[in-house]
Amino acid sequence: MSDSEWTHERLLQAAKEAMTRAYVPYSKFRVGAALLDAEGQVHYGCNVENAAYSPSNCAERTALFRAIADGRAAGSFKAIAVMGDTPDPITPCGVCRQVISELCAPDMPVIMGNLKGDIRVSTVSELLPGAFSPRELEYGKKDR
Ligand code: THU
Repeated sequence: MSDSEWTHERLLQAAKEAMTRAYVPYSKFRVGAALLDAEGQVHYGCNVENAAYSPSNCAERTALFRAIADGRAAGSFKAIAVMGDTPDPITPCGVCRQVISELCAPDMPVIMGNLKGDIRVSTVSELLPGAFSPRELEYGKKDR
């Protein structure tokens, strides 16, 4: 499927499919993500939990880390969709917002949905204004 054929609805459908693969024995709360790359390929992500709780990984980060591991460049992604069984469209957690802001362009759409069909579209920078960024690491480097 080419880039332009991936409508918000289709990307959310892919995220819904990814939800079925969630490994959630503790929360039982399934989340799916679908990340569209520059070649029109979709990278799926689901949440993967752990008995020690804190090593758990959200669906959004799973999709992003998979895509990076598969050789896609940071900043090259076209959109990410996230799906959950929530009363309003699901919203990425703070940790995922930080990771999304590192690996995606500030104006990239973040498409949020729920199983009822509600959709909210925002951008990376709207979801995390003033994110800590690689630029901050440069400041004062000469003194270290
Ligand atoms: N979770 C996600 O995967 N993405 C979100 O946007 C919100 C929360 C996961 C983490 C955990 O496995 C479960 O949902 C409950 O917080």
